[in-house]
Amino acid sequence: MSGSPMRPELLRIATISRVEEESRGVKTLYFSDRLCSEARPGQFLMIWAPGVDEVPMSLSTISRERVSVTVKLVGEGTRAIHKMRVGDRMGVRGPFGNGFTISGSRPLLVGGGTGVAALKPLLEAMLADGVEPTFILGARSLDDLLFRSHLEKLLGRRLFFTTDDGSLGFKGFASDLAIRLMGERDFDSVYVCGPEPMICKVFEEAERRGLPIQASLERYIKCAVGLCGSCALGPFRVCRDGPVFNSQQLRLVRDELGRTRMDPSGLMISIEP
Ligand SMILES: Cc1cc2nc3c(=O)[nH]c(=O)nc-3n(C[C@H](O)[C@H](O)[C@H](O)COP(=O)(O)OP(=O)(O)OC[C@H]3O[C@@H](n4cnc5c(N)ncnc54)[C@H](O)[C@@H]3O)c2cc1C
Ligand code: FES
Repeated sequence: MSGSPMRPELLRIATISRVEEESRGVKTLYFSDRLCSEARPGQFLMIWAPGVDEVPMSLSTISRERVSVTVKLVGEGTRAIHKMRVGDRMGVRGPFGNGFTISGSRPLLVGGGTGVAALKPLLEAMLADGVEPTFILGARSLDDLLFRSHLEKLLGRRLFFTTDDGSLGFKGFASDLAIRLMGERDFDSVYVCGPEPMICKVFEEAERRGLPIQASLERYIKCAVGLCGSCALGPFRVCRDGPVFNSQQLRLVRDELGRTRMDPSGLMISIEP
């Protein structure tokens, strides 16, 4: 070791050691990185595809041997990441943000779409701590459910599926099933990551029932270190104060949640469905 501490905000080069096709248009890229191995579940990285873009991605695996990001193909940046193969090199900054805090012994985890990526290492940390989580895994359709067999092995009967088209499990949104389960079972905390309208509904129900919640939110992230302001949400900067927010913080941004966000040019735009 050199003796000088590694700084997460500085760019490092990581070599991809494995690529997994997870579901339609979603790939997981594995690599080794000491700082990422020490990350908290819910923290994110900036992944730089040289010459194309740098985009925020949650850590979907955190272990001493290897870490990963799970990337949905959306546009130019994620297309460049999807083209990467074993042995290719990419730029990595981070881990950034606060991550989740494990509290309670009977948590409900609600993940929709690629939001599940941020909840996977949280779930693994909870199980290692002897906590017994219930997990709702939601997607548009059966083929879009992320980490299905891995989660089945970890959770057995405590895993619930929801699909918008009813191709597996509950037909409807993950938030609809979350609201129903909160009425039927005795949870003591709620964790959620996914589309913001889904987060809003889960938050409102948790509030109604007096359950503490932690939600991972997405905003436009450029610098990732709290300087540029592009990720502003009420009094917060999502890159530095989030991306995970607790009940108290979510109450402060209730008016913006699921309604508005800043676009890359700094303009406030509607995100209402
Ligand atoms: C904290 C955080 C964690 C995330 N984790 C994941 C993850 O684990 N897996 C995953 O597939 N996606 C994740 N995302 C979303 C991901 O960053 C965007 O899908 C990606 O940046 C799209 O880039 P693009 O160039 O392919 O698409 P573009 O065509 O450039 O953009 C498509 C849309 O992606 C979003 N986006 C683009 N650039 C950014 C940016 N710099 N910051 C925030 N949003 C952006 C915007 O909503 C934009 O409208 C996360 C976002 C945040 C903020
Ligand atoms: S991304 Fe620049 S302040 Fe958060």
